[in-house]
Amino acid sequence: MLRYLMSIIVLVGFMSFVQAETYQTHRLVEDGIHDPENDAIKILQEPVEAMVDFPLDRRGKVNWVDAIRSGKITPRKSLSGDEFGGEMMLEMDMDVILKQTANMPNVRFPHLAHTEWLTCNNCHPDIFIPQLEANNITMDKIFKGEFCGRCHDKVAFALFTCERCHSVPHESSSEIWIKDLDK
Ligand code: HEC
Ligand code: HEC
Ligand code: HEC
Repeated sequence: MLRYLMSIIVLVGFMSFVQAETYQTHRLVEDGIHDPENDAIKILQEPVEAMVDFPLDRRGKVNWVDAIRSGKITPRKSLSGDEFGGEMMLEMDMDVILKQTANMPNVRFPHLAHTEWLTCNNCHPDIFIPQLEANNITMDKIFKGEFCGRCHDKVAFALFTCERCHSVPHESSSEIWIKDLDK
């Protein structure tokens, strides 16, 4: 009996481990976006199946930057998919280091990881004046949905993964971030 119980505990433990490895998401009929009455729902692929082997971040959400770099996804370059049909994205590899971060590591803003999905005018000049340190960004405003918070925590990775933005330690940034980054 004890052995039987033990194997159930081990099995349940193993199952939750396996589950933690796959992206958790709603089925299409219950996601609140798709019409469960519409027949088309039967031909659409379930997200959990489509994203079964997608790279995840430490919180178990899809890491979309790794997904694009590893070729798991290849987003269209314009709204219509036709090179000349819409505004084309222009990839630009330029990092900006934002240093008003108090004891947190500085923020590396990578233009490349953004311009793989967005055009310059998605951000400039409405969200950010394209000039170094011209925007007076604070964490408080970000949490209220301004600046980076226009997308992060909504369509881009959550604000809880501080280290993905605060990735450049400096002299007075707390030890824990430096240790984490050494791993
Ligand atoms: C996701 C938003 C976003 C997108 C898209 C974006 N940028 Fe930026 N850009 C920023 C941020 C944030 C800064 C830093 C502003 C600051 O320091 O306050 C910046 C800064 C700049 C700067 C000033 C750099 C400096 O050293 O003074 C230029 C120039 C610029 N961007 C051009 C572009 C161009 C060209 C594109 C399209 C190829 C583009 N940006 C796309 C967010 C974006
Ligand atoms: C999407 C990117 C992003 C994430 C995620 C993020 N931050 Fe920030 N943080 C920023 C930017 C940008 C600034 C302003 C830097 C500048 O203007 O020089 C900032 C500034 C700060 C500051 C400086 C003081 C202030 O209030 O503005 C602190 C402290 C801070 N962040 C803490 C955190 C903590 C803690 C987390 C995780 C819970 C976090 N941040 C997650 C982008 C981010
Ligand atoms: C217009 C929407 C938008 C804005 C505004 C925006 N981001 Fe992003 N960001 C994205 C998208 C989309 C991605 C790629 C998808 C993802 O990683 O979730 C991304 C990815 C990133 C990455 C790449 C992480 C990696 O693993 O390489 C960093 C770092 C980042 N953003 C920081 C910032 C910071 C800092 C700001 C504000 C200064 C900001 N973002 C503003 C949409 C935005």
